[in-house]
Amino acid sequence: MRRLATLLLILMLTSAVHSQKGNPTKINLITNVINRNLISLDGRWNYIVDPYENGFYDYRRRPYDEIGDRTGGFYSDRKPADKTDRVEYDFDLSPAMTIPGDWNSQVNELKLYEGSVWFKRDFEVKKKPGKRYFLYFGAVNYEAHVYLNGKKLGVHIGGFTPFNFEVTGLLNDGSNFVVVKVDNTRRLDGVPTVNTDWWNYGGITRDVFLIETNDTFIRDFKLQLNNNDPELIEGFVQLDGSKGEQTGTIRIEEANVNYNFKTGSNGYAEIKIRAGKLNLWSPGNPFLYNVKIETETDTLKDKIGFRTIAVKGTDILLNGKPVFLRGICLHEENPLKTGRAYGEAEALMLLNWAKELNCNYVRLAHYPHNEYMVRTAEKMGLLVWEEIPVYWTIQWENESTFRNAMNQLEEMIVRDRNRANVIIWSMGNETPVIEPRIRFMSKLAERARELDGTRLISAALEVHRKENEPFTYMVDDPLGKYLDVLSFNEYIGWYDGKPDKCDKIKWEFGYDKPVLISETGAGALQGFKGDSLTVWSEEHQAYFYGKQLKMIGKQKQIKGLTPWILVDFRSPRRPHPVYQNFWNRKGLVSSSGIKKKAYFVLKNFYDTIEKSK
Ligand code: GCU
Repeated sequence: MRRLATLLLILMLTSAVHSQKGNPTKINLITNVINRNLISLDGRWNYIVDPYENGFYDYRRRPYDEIGDRTGGFYSDRKPADKTDRVEYDFDLSPAMTIPGDWNSQVNELKLYEGSVWFKRDFEVKKKPGKRYFLYFGAVNYEAHVYLNGKKLGVHIGGFTPFNFEVTGLLNDGSNFVVVKVDNTRRLDGVPTVNTDWWNYGGITRDVFLIETNDTFIRDFKLQLNNNDPELIEGFVQLDGSKGEQTGTIRIEEANVNYNFKTGSNGYAEIKIRAGKLNLWSPGNPFLYNVKIETETDTLKDKIGFRTIAVKGTDILLNGKPVFLRGICLHEENPLKTGRAYGEAEALMLLNWAKELNCNYVRLAHYPHNEYMVRTAEKMGLLVWEEIPVYWTIQWENESTFRNAMNQLEEMIVRDRNRANVIIWSMGNETPVIEPRIRFMSKLAERARELDGTRLISAALEVHRKENEPFTYMVDDPLGKYLDVLSFNEYIGWYDGKPDKCDKIKWEFGYDKPVLISETGAGALQGFKGDSLTVWSEEHQAYFYGKQLKMIGKQKQIKGLTPWILVDFRSPRRPHPVYQNFWNRKGLVSSSGIKKKAYFVLKNFYDTIEKSK
């Protein structure tokens, strides 16, 4: 009798556990935002530059929003009560700038400014009964303190990933104001840390939305093909709200899929759809299905492509076939406005330059770019490498630095894990081969696999010369053990010798894995003519590429490359007054959008590769 009771109990528990199977995601990020009910808060925001954080701390360095002193804190947007009332700031009489947008390219005095700037935006809302409201930011560089109607919503750290706060209870039916303190001060314990070869654009650099949802809504979902079974779509649906247990249906019209599911009381349902033969997404066929998820209280649509990506020996297999990744690196910068790129039009401009190079792949360096960039690449048939800014030498043994990196990793993966074109998650770039770093980055890789086991994991590693063999270069970083694809940066002929050194180089790869060159490149000032050995001339850059590509073409284990870089970009580390002028000139396209000679050397190489594969 007792035994039976125990068994029944276990059964009940397991079934409860089964329906209570957990969503590995720890953050409450709302995904697929562009397909939701949105009120855009983009536009002109007033701003106050606050280098001494005078609007945040009192003279005893106590945060006003902690001591609840509304007199000094800019978050309260206080107005003088009458002529006797002294208030030493006023957003509405202060200048304004366009959001999304960085402050460096919009306000000349702020070109090199790093510090705090406060932003305020008034907005009207007609609140609907039974609806919930969330304030969503595509990204704010770097540290954001967010307030609504004078109340603190929270803080977000990390300049390149989205975040949201629920504001249902704080939102007025009518007039509201949002205040954001943005601080892009570089920090030693930051991710990235104080030294980067890109411009530290500050501000609210991506869209700001007020998202309106039903009381219980579909907050997140994942639908991707099982890499070993191209007819099996797997994933989950995650509801958010009081009515966790619901029935639902996933419809994929073009594939005749009508799949029923049930969520547990935690609003979670695991999904396994036998979808039959699908029209698989690939660069030559960037086909996206119309997917609709309907539950008792919500409906959500998205356009999703299905493809498999895997490694087999030293091959990268896309939809089961070996693929060569004809790529290029790019920063999220629009050189023509010398500022952060954030919209579809700018994504199109940049990615068209990559397509014209005959690329089928791009490395979005060194941080997650905006969602328009990723989705536009998906529509254009460009495979994507995405990366978190674990760049050069961060504080590997600092717990808060680790949590920060983990959080950025999770926000990146959660935002983009339904994008068919994203095939590689990169854990970082050019990091030192030391124990604490291997621990740090191997844990990131492990977490990435938990959050998304359907994509390849990599990192941009460094090379070293073999002892007593000056022309034998090794890629045997111990971190390689944790990675699916071995990727490395090399600048033989630019930072390391002259271009013809490439002719002598022998490569040894420490793992039987596919190898990618994640960076190689040389600088050239567009229009500066010289012979092939004259550094900074277009001829020299073209000569460099000729030598590099000949060397790379010989390495059978190399399955792709992303030269550094598509277009010249701003860098505070490049002061040469003639050749650089605070631009990194390794672009194949100049800062005014003109293709340099080397652009065509790479294009020819890719045309040849494409024909040969
Ligand atoms: C490094 C680094 C890039 C940098 C490039 C360069 O490899 O990853 O961020 O811009 O080299 O020196 O141009």
